[in-house]
Amino acid sequence: MVNPANTANATADTATDTPAEAPTEAPVHKAPEVHTVVPEHRAERPSTSSTSDADSKSGHFELEKVSVSYGGDMALKDVSFYIEPRKVTALIGPSGCGKSTLLRCLNRMNDAIDGVKVEGLISLNGEDINAKAVDPVSLRMYVGQVFQRPNPFPLSIYDNVAFGPRTQGIRKKDELDEIVIDSLKKAAIYEEVKNSLKKHAFELSGGQQQRLCIARALATKPGVLLMDEPCSALDPISTGMIEDTVQQLRDSMTIVIVTHNMQQAARVSDSTAFLLRESIEEPAGLVEITDTTTMFTQPRDKRTENYITGRFG
Ligand SMILES: Nc1ncnc2c1ncn2[C@@H]1O[C@H](COP(=O)(O)OP(=O)(O)O)[C@@H](O)[C@H]1O
Ligand SMILES: [Mg+2]
Repeated sequence: MVNPANTANATADTATDTPAEAPTEAPVHKAPEVHTVVPEHRAERPSTSSTSDADSKSGHFELEKVSVSYGGDMALKDVSFYIEPRKVTALIGPSGCGKSTLLRCLNRMNDAIDGVKVEGLISLNGEDINAKAVDPVSLRMYVGQVFQRPNPFPLSIYDNVAFGPRTQGIRKKDELDEIVIDSLKKAAIYEEVKNSLKKHAFELSGGQQQRLCIARALATKPGVLLMDEPCSALDPISTGMIEDTVQQLRDSMTIVIVTHNMQQAARVSDSTAFLLRESIEEPAGLVEITDTTTMFTQPRDKRTENYITGRFG
């Protein structure tokens, strides 16, 4: 079980997608020293102003021959690709092809899983995220994550969103208020909850809880947001709201979204990566990554075509 206090905005037990162990009160941690992988201005307390030119290129990943094994069994092999900054990249592929595994590599949530081995190079903004000098807690503040099932903490709406900033050491009420309101607005839930910020998060509907979790992730001002099938537990209306939120965030941060839903990938993403495990004897790998329109109209690989036309998976 991952202690949420140690994972900042990436707040679930990623191995099982079960809700994170609940903090009874939000502990305050000293802000860890931030390595250069996280742009410095990001490490400082967020301004609520929009993106500056200086960081318009931040939030890009390069993966070189990334392989992941669990207890000696290789799940994912030699995955290499570039994730563009301030774009939405969708990860698609049948169950078990390593989408969640790959996503967890991007903010080192795999570190929490016993027996996991990650090989290859994963650089974020040109820096190896697995380097010793990188603090995983700071990394996860910058690379936030939203999970399949909404996993709000058993706290009020306000305290859920304020959790990450408090962990970063912010105590001033005015400052916290501004961050909470700004984050709820960006996650498109503010209008629904603005008069009930003290309400317990569990009183919200599933769709509202998921948008609250997005707000919680946004509160540490991430440069990257990872979303692992964020709509799979939601009804179509809530799904539409989450997709609208992704559209609104797309210019201000890099988003990597795992989805089983081809239409969703086509609607929300700029690029799509197709992963496939061809047999149980072999690890999964990347079949292709291309801009989403091309992927869904003229896939280069026959296997991609078979998958997106519903012939398997
Ligand atoms: N925590 C874990 N421990 C052991 N094996 C795991 C773990 N998580 C995933 N795997 C294995 O890795 C492979 C890829 O799983 P996963 O990344 O969850 O795929 P996807 O998200 O595409 O369904 C599967 O064979 C799965 O059983
Ligand atoms: Mg998964």
